[in-house]
Amino acid sequence: MVLFFSTTGNTEYIAKQIAARLNDQTADLLPLIREHDYSDIHSETPFVICAPVYVCEMPGFVAEYLKNARLTGCRDVYFVFTSGGYAGISGPLAGRIVRKKGMRYRGCAELVMPQNYIATNLYDELEDGEIERRIAASSDMVDRIAEIIRSGDDLKSRHKWLLEYAAIIPANPIWQRVMQPVKQFYVTDKCTGCGLCAERCPLKRIQMMPVRASGKVSSYPKWTGRSCAHCMSCIQNCPAGAIEYGNITPGKKRYRFKDYQYAAPESK
Ligand SMILES: Cc1cc2nc3c(=O)[nH]c(=O)nc-3n(C[C@H](O)[C@H](O)[C@H](O)COP(=O)(O)O)c2cc1C
Ligand code: SF4
Ligand code: SF4
Repeated sequence: MVLFFSTTGNTEYIAKQIAARLNDQTADLLPLIREHDYSDIHSETPFVICAPVYVCEMPGFVAEYLKNARLTGCRDVYFVFTSGGYAGISGPLAGRIVRKKGMRYRGCAELVMPQNYIATNLYDELEDGEIERRIAASSDMVDRIAEIIRSGDDLKSRHKWLLEYAAIIPANPIWQRVMQPVKQFYVTDKCTGCGLCAERCPLKRIQMMPVRASGKVSSYPKWTGRSCAHCMSCIQNCPAGAIEYGNITPGKKRYRFKDYQYAAPESK
């Protein structure tokens, strides 16, 4: 069984490619994460968990889900991470969670895909050619990953240095609290009130607020809480391009894996 979380389609695409090669099923973790639904997931084949990398590790809400989820049947768990180039210590941290559940960590693969974190000035916009190059290179690795899983071997990724643990583990909680505020999200008058941003926020940080005055829309999104995962689902997937983040995103190109041709329609 291939379980995945994805906001802009990179990971969903990879997960579905792996599942097709393994002739196995996929399950989208978004609804389960949103509802804190930890009910049994049974698989006779190895669990393959596919997730993006957020600030050098797997998203906190995916880790939380995995800690609590009841995975029954096969005890082997593989991970496949997609990142913009640096997967940090995602693998070892995932291994720790799996072992605590009494399951077998079978290693991870790290695939470089287009960077989707636009609410920061840390990353340059990628040229279309580079986006295509990364997708093609990662697609080429899918056959090999599936072959290794099918043959029952471990996935191998690069060595992680002690310094990486020492830098990432203490810094991450602070980064997430300080560098990922929600207050800079806002909506422009392009908003149609469709509610998609609220429906797909993994943390349910967005509420649709009714608008009393007569106008073209009946409700607008309002961001709640102090910080969020900055997963970029709301801002990247808004069909009207109506969401901005401070003065960082106006004029920036949005990114979705091939406009979600592979991802959204099948996952509904
Ligand atoms: C909040 C956030 C943090 C990220 N941190 C990293 C990172 O530490 N290293 C990296 O290489 N890419 C990072 N990325 C990029 C994503 O991991 C990458 O684009 C991934 O393929 C997105 O997958 P998706 O389309 O399935 O959501 C980050 C993206 C977001 C939104
Ligand atoms: S997804 Fe975009 S258009 Fe739809 S409610 Fe949210 S901001 Fe408005
Ligand atoms: S508010 Fe937007 S960026 Fe933050 S967690 Fe929700 S969907 Fe992701």
